[in-house]
Amino acid sequence: MRHSPIFYQLLCFLLFLSYQATLSSSSSSSSATQLCSHDQSAALIQFKALFSINKTASKDCEINDIRSYPKTNSWKEGIDCCLWDGVSCDNITGQVISLDLSCSWLSGTLPSNSSLFLLSHLQRLDLSFNDFKKSKISSKVGLFASLRHLDLSHSWFSGRVPYEISYLSKLVSLDLSSFGLLSAAVEPVLKLEQSTLSGIVRNLTEVRDIFLEGIDMSLVDPNSFMNLSYSLTSLSLTSCDLRGTFPENILNLPNIKYLTLDSNPSLTGQLPKSNWGSPLEFLDASLTSFSGELSESIGNLKSLQGLSLIGCNFSGSIPRSLGNLSNLTFLFLPYNNFSGTIPSSLTSLTQLGLLQICNNRLEGSIPDNPNAFPNLSFLDLSDNLLSGTTPSWLYTHPSLNFLNLGNNQFSGHINEFQQSFLDYINFKNNTFQGTIPSSISKLVNLRFLDLSSNSLNGTISLDMFSKLQNLTWLELSSNALSLISSNSSVNFVLPNLEYVNLSSCNINEFPNFLKGSKVLKSLDLSNNRIYGQIYKFPWKDIEFLDLHSNLIEGDLPILPHNIRFFSVSSNHLAGEISGVCSMKFPEILDLSHNNLSGIIPQCIGSFGKSLSLLNLKKNKFHGNNFEGQIPRVTGEFSSLRALDLSHNNLVGHIPPSLGNLTQLESLDLSSNKLGGQIPRELVNLTLLSFFNVSNNQLVGPIPQGKQFSTFGNGSYEGNKGLCGPPLSIRCSSAEPRQPPPSI
Ligand SMILES: *[C@@H]1O[C@H](CO)[C@@H](O)[C@H](O)[C@H]1NC(C)=O
Ligand SMILES: *[C@@H]1O[C@H](CO)[C@@H](O)[C@H](O)[C@H]1NC(C)=O
Ligand SMILES: *[C@@H]1O[C@H](CO)[C@@H](O)[C@H](O)[C@H]1NC(C)=O
Ligand SMILES: *[C@@H]1O[C@H](CO)[C@@H](O)[C@H](O)[C@H]1NC(C)=O
Ligand SMILES: *[C@@H]1O[C@H](CO)[C@@H](O)[C@H](O)[C@H]1NC(C)=O
Ligand SMILES: *[C@@H]1O[C@H](CO)[C@@H](O)[C@H](O)[C@H]1NC(C)=O
Ligand SMILES: *[C@@H]1O[C@H](CO)[C@@H](O)[C@H](O)[C@H]1NC(C)=O
Ligand SMILES: *[C@@H]1O[C@H](CO)[C@@H](O)[C@H](O)[C@H]1NC(C)=O
Ligand SMILES: *[C@@H]1O[C@H](CO)[C@@H](O)[C@H](O)[C@H]1NC(C)=O
Ligand SMILES: *[C@@H]1O[C@H](CO)[C@@H](O)[C@H](O)[C@H]1NC(C)=O
Ligand SMILES: *[C@@H]1O[C@H](CO)[C@@H](O)[C@H](O)[C@H]1NC(C)=O
Ligand SMILES: *[C@@H]1O[C@H](CO)[C@@H](O)[C@H](O)[C@H]1NC(C)=O
Repeated sequence: MRHSPIFYQLLCFLLFLSYQATLSSSSSSSSATQLCSHDQSAALIQFKALFSINKTASKDCEINDIRSYPKTNSWKEGIDCCLWDGVSCDNITGQVISLDLSCSWLSGTLPSNSSLFLLSHLQRLDLSFNDFKKSKISSKVGLFASLRHLDLSHSWFSGRVPYEISYLSKLVSLDLSSFGLLSAAVEPVLKLEQSTLSGIVRNLTEVRDIFLEGIDMSLVDPNSFMNLSYSLTSLSLTSCDLRGTFPENILNLPNIKYLTLDSNPSLTGQLPKSNWGSPLEFLDASLTSFSGELSESIGNLKSLQGLSLIGCNFSGSIPRSLGNLSNLTFLFLPYNNFSGTIPSSLTSLTQLGLLQICNNRLEGSIPDNPNAFPNLSFLDLSDNLLSGTTPSWLYTHPSLNFLNLGNNQFSGHINEFQQSFLDYINFKNNTFQGTIPSSISKLVNLRFLDLSSNSLNGTISLDMFSKLQNLTWLELSSNALSLISSNSSVNFVLPNLEYVNLSSCNINEFPNFLKGSKVLKSLDLSNNRIYGQIYKFPWKDIEFLDLHSNLIEGDLPILPHNIRFFSVSSNHLAGEISGVCSMKFPEILDLSHNNLSGIIPQCIGSFGKSLSLLNLKKNKFHGNNFEGQIPRVTGEFSSLRALDLSHNNLVGHIPPSLGNLTQLESLDLSSNKLGGQIPRELVNLTLLSFFNVSNNQLVGPIPQGKQFSTFGNGSYEGNKGLCGPPLSIRCSSAEPRQPPPSI
């Protein structure tokens, strides 16, 4: 389970806010009353010389919407250093008190003998968003005794956070965040040791903001945070690999506003059960092992603007008091064990824009209230046990654009939509009845529509979708619908379609509009009554194509190169199948139950390691002694799990190389004209659980041992010459073993 994209956007937004706050208070206000001293100027010039200027070093600034430019380009000898970009001086003493080089394109290592550490009067040091090439943070950082703001975030420092950072007893804000643990496989990572953390907690008595995202804290005791300063306003411990129980008192600190603990899967904790009354504005404990119930006292957090508890182990009901949090803009509670109903008090949250409670065990219906959620744009209630009819506000809501009610038990009709902002509608797997509302044809912003697995009925003209030019996902399968193509000669194209599932929709003609969807990746038209011949597949990049159980006839066209799943099982295709040879990495190939004939092409051997299922059952493959044989090359298939060549006219003998298909679980060669012996090599197929060679012309002893002791008589019947267990016919000792008889 991962964060939703929305969640990341929010996270970025929040980060942005926090950086904005840091930046705005640091805007340099230098004064010319006192020139910067020569030694400070020289120290800065020496520092500058350590780095090359490389825009890539600050590429993450744009993501966070921070302007990036090479500030040190303005650093020139002969100009008062107090006027240089990023430098501010004390207007009485002329000492450099602030160095803000965030997003300055600096690239290079920062050695511990750098002249930077001579700037002993610094009150602010911001080196964020540069590339210090895995430099260690020097213990000399402890020399900045006056430092109040230290920001080394997102700058590719690595190694242990030096203990000396705890000497900075005047620090008000500390930001050492890195992307480290957040984005897998990104090295390097800063590591925080227990002693350093204890020092920070004990000594930084004025600290308000601490951001330690992505720092490896797997060895610290989360309890150590318990004694953090009462002044604490922000604490970010996202993705720190914290293990153990997080101290509850932090959630109740008198000044705490911003707390992110997310993405620490081994961090346990509870939210306060009573008297919770902090000024929290944002709380994120997503993807942790926090558990327990949310108490009604959460309603005391009047300043709460965002609450994200995605993928924890919370249970119990959703507190009614959440409806009191009038400043709440997002509420994310998905992937927990919440039960009970959706409190109707929530509908009065006037600021709520995003509500996500999917993947819980909620029951009952969606609260009805004509003015529900006046600012809602995103509603995801999928994967619950919700039921009843859908309230009319869903269809008239003026700002809703994402609506997911999938995998519930909603019933009744889908109403007509009276707004046109929706870009995502998912009603799949409910018990909706009646027809598809015609107003769908006016939802021009729609990207995603899934109404599959309901009880919708009626006849729908595919023209209904002709104006939905942004549609990328269309799924109507498993209803009682009849989809018909228009009679009009007007053709339409949906150029962005990537995923289409119109299985079981009573379609009897290949939908013309699909031919123009050039970026189609997945198409399921199975279980329809599509007839006629297909001459060519018009989609270059398609990966999944399921046409099984239709009335398609004629030859098999050349298959698109990148296809991984292809099924035309149970159609009326005839002729040879050399068209499959164009596939590069097929995984599933099912041509069973057709009238295909000719030889099994040797190219199947070149599918090498990718193919896991090959089903050619019930066709008319045949051939002479050589061409009709099962391709020897099948010995190269290392991932094949099922091979069904039954009910053909195959002749020749079973190749011993099949014994090399070590992943094979099912092998069906029944009802052919195979002769010779069953190769002993097949005993090596230790995963084989289904084996059928009945109704062939096989002779000689049945291999014994391993999986072969599990197959019954049925696997062998209809072969006159087989002997040995499980058959009661004994083999004569003179039974020849080698060479296998050829026919
Ligand atoms: C800038 O940094 C990137 C990434 O480290 C590197 O690939 C590129 O060569 C550098 N450009 C220059 C001009 O040094
Ligand atoms: C010096 O800076 C302080 C704030 O840092 C400001 O209040 C004061 O007016 C400045 N004095 C002069 C002479 O610029
Ligand atoms: C810093 O140390 C390196 C060797 O580690 C040395 O080459 C360099 O000259 C030193 N720089 C200064 C400013 O002392
Ligand atoms: C606190 O900081 C002072 C210097 O400011 C240092 O001497 C002392 O060791 C620090 N105490 C702890 C517990 O880190
Ligand atoms: C927190 O401070 C209290 C009192 O100063 C002390 O008894 C306790 O051990 C400290 N807890 C931790 C985890 O440092
Ligand atoms: C709610 O938000 C408004 C506007 O941002 C703010 O003025 C007000 O103080 C907030 N209410 C609380 C209880 O924080
Ligand atoms: C989740 O909480 C339940 C009790 O509500 C507990 O039995 C279960 O072990 C917890 N699961 C995890 C993964 O922590
Ligand atoms: C359909 O939804 C129910 C919950 O209502 C769920 O249990 C079931 O797994 C879903 N079926 C599919 C195929 O997703
Ligand atoms: C389709 O999507 C594009 C890009 O997201 C957007 O600019 C455009 O307005 C959309 N078109 C319609 C008809 O909604
Ligand atoms: C659709 O199903 C309902 C019952 O669920 C039935 O009354 C109605 O006649 C059906 N409509 C069509 C067009 O089959
Ligand atoms: C099985 O595979 C090995 C290695 O790929 C090969 O040397 C051997 O000839 C194969 N056995 C048969 C019977 O094809
Ligand atoms: C089974 O495989 C082993 C090695 O994987 C091989 O040595 C042996 O000859 C094989 N047995 C048969 C009967 O093919």
